[in-house]
Amino acid sequence: MDRGKPLKHNRLNDLHSKEWIKFQKSWFIHRPARRQSAVLLHPAKFPEELIAEFITFFTKQGQAVLDPMAGTGSALIAALQTGRRAYGVELQDKYADSARERLQKLSDELDDPPEHRLETANAANIADLDFPEIDYCITSPPYWDMLHRKGFDTQQERREDDSLDVHYSDDEADLGNIEDYHHFLDNLTHIYRKVAELLREQAYMTVIVKNIKKGGTIYPLAWDLAGRMSEFLTLKDEKIWCQDDLRLGPYGMGYAWVSNTMHHYCLNFRKE
Ligand SMILES: C[S@@+](CC[C@H](N)C(=O)[O-])C[C@H]1O[C@@H](n2cnc3c(N)ncnc32)[C@H](O)[C@@H]1O
Repeated sequence: MDRGKPLKHNRLNDLHSKEWIKFQKSWFIHRPARRQSAVLLHPAKFPEELIAEFITFFTKQGQAVLDPMAGTGSALIAALQTGRRAYGVELQDKYADSARERLQKLSDELDDPPEHRLETANAANIADLDFPEIDYCITSPPYWDMLHRKGFDTQQERREDDSLDVHYSDDEADLGNIEDYHHFLDNLTHIYRKVAELLREQAYMTVIVKNIKKGGTIYPLAWDLAGRMSEFLTLKDEKIWCQDDLRLGPYGMGYAWVSNTMHHYCLNFRKE
């Protein structure tokens, strides 16, 4: 691929001109590759290739990337693959163990593997985990308690297979188990505030999230989060991740406008 010209004074990343400009589009379509069995257990894993594009835009080689709700470790894997140091927190051992196994395997294959560390912990306690200063955070929270809802569009096929999780856990500290929307938002914002304290000045943080429909009501989680996080980080433009590989449901057919929500917001913030 023609990368374009190297940039003379590039303080943000190691990209060349054409790569930089390609990332500036405010939306993208991503079709994830089929998942391997080691990471199939988790109900909401993100594709490493997608995360790698964000990491290579928002950091230089050798810098430190954090995911405070790491799941099966997509962000950490993408960080190592692109030569960045990888740090993470995940509440559930079952996901963290699988992530650590994948990280170690990848690290063993690399000539000069960057440091990586994934802790099993509640991200609310991230300040006690002794992480270094972070150059970029990319993460995605539980989408409130939506995985508990029968018929949640992305979970239907998984319910037919008993061996796969359809929600993360029954743990009280799991944000996905909080029923009250505002309580959920308060707890999530509290964690992100702690994460922001670990970021160096001028570092970016990307949160991948969706607005939510529940019982006929729209809960604008992405927009509410953008507002709440603006109390401690500066909101920059979002990128919209469009999905065109999901099954369409005939919601509201014949009587009302109910969309098939096939996009996520990648909300970009900066510590300024
Ligand atoms: C949307 S998933 C993240 C998926 C991840 N990006 C991946 O690709 O595998 C959200 C994760 O947050 C974790 N989680 C929920 N509450 C948490 C908490 N208080 N501290 C840390 N992790 C938490 C869940 O166990 C779940 O794995």
